Amino acid sequence: MTDTSETPANETSTTSGSRMRTVLFQSFGDPSVLAVAEVAVPAPQPGQITIDVEYAGVNFAEVMFRRGQFPVDLPHFPGLEAVGTVRAVGDGVAGFETGDRVAALTLGGGGNAEVVAAGAEHAVRLDGELAGLDGTLAAGALCNVTTALGVLTSAGHLAPGETVVVLAAAGGVGTAAAQLARSLGAARVIGVTSSPAKAEYARGYGYDSVVSYEEIEHEVAERTGGAGADLVLDSVGGAFRSSVTGLLAAFGRHVVFGNAAAEDVTFEGNHPWYTNSSLAGYNLGGVAGRAPALLRAHLERALSEVAKGHVRVDVRVLPLKDVAHAHELLETRASTGKYVLDVRS
Ligand SMILES: NC(=O)c1ccc[n+]([C@@H]2O[C@H](COP(=O)([O-])OP(=O)(O)OC[C@H]3O[C@@H](n4cnc5c(N)ncnc54)[C@H](OP(=O)(O)O)[C@@H]3O)[C@@H](O)[C@H]2O)c1
Repeated sequence: MTDTSETPANETSTTSGSRMRTVLFQSFGDPSVLAVAEVAVPAPQPGQITIDVEYAGVNFAEVMFRRGQFPVDLPHFPGLEAVGTVRAVGDGVAGFETGDRVAALTLGGGGNAEVVAAGAEHAVRLDGELAGLDGTLAAGALCNVTTALGVLTSAGHLAPGETVVVLAAAGGVGTAAAQLARSLGAARVIGVTSSPAKAEYARGYGYDSVVSYEEIEHEVAERTGGAGADLVLDSVGGAFRSSVTGLLAAFGRHVVFGNAAAEDVTFEGNHPWYTNSSLAGYNLGGVAGRAPALLRAHLERALSEVAKGHVRVDVRVLPLKDVAHAHELLETRASTGKYVLDVRS
């Protein structure tokens, strides 16, 4: 194990004397740059709580950070979500006490660690109707189900009776989006994924059909009588992004919220005019900054939907030391559902 005196990037002070294990990377690259290291335990800044983490989700965004697709400072401490108990409460924080069981978005990173600092506005106490929510499911729901909800509603304006197409249908966000689209009243939910095995897996999550990227144009035409889809959820990017407009009904919405292919396309300003379509976007960090109350409402609703069993999250739990394996599975398109790290093992 590497030993370092570095402090997680979102921290400026530490609890003296205490050390903890965390995932970090010191350079950009393949999953081998990920290390589990010992660092100082963070102390909460004003407005923050610190959490003794039990479970921490792994997200595709962290793959992008690790390979340098987004500018993050080095060393970087990955982890955008965590579940555990409140360790300490910072100045100005109301509503949390040491020992409270919580689930939190840790949008500054650092969630893949034994202790993380989180803004209290992004933490939810797992009590009341959330008291029985399994920690692994809560960790699996934080980013993915919240994002799926935001993409479908705030960005996609899904209306009852509409047809929705979900790219990367078998993934963490995809499986949540299909179930939520269904419960929000979509008439048809069509998934797209890259292999027959993933299609078979995704069919268990509320899709009417799941097809390959090559088959989707025909599938949408067939299922909508040639009218097209009202909403396409696109986290994939790459060359496929250019073809999405061809899937849309008149006034259909193309929601862009990721770029797994790490390759973008260019749309002209006249594109929506010429095609009777809308290009919309969703970014969790951006919502946190510009519409924090909306993000909190979506976060609470996401956890509630999972606690009630309305949205099923398929979680595979790995020990903290296997974080590179989780990245590898996500990056090579070998993953289905959600990977969660058991930080204590
Ligand atoms: N904007 C936001 O705030 C926000 C928040 C959360 C997640 N996201 C985005 O939503 C997407 C889903 O996140 P997730 O964590 O649930 O991941 P995921 O969907 O479980 O995994 C990513 C999936 O992207 C697809 N993909 C397409 N082209 C790929 C390529 N060249 N390399 C690797 N994967 C490729 C793969 O599915 P197929 O093999 O089936 O194509 C892969 O399984 C990600 O793109 C993520 O960045 C955005």
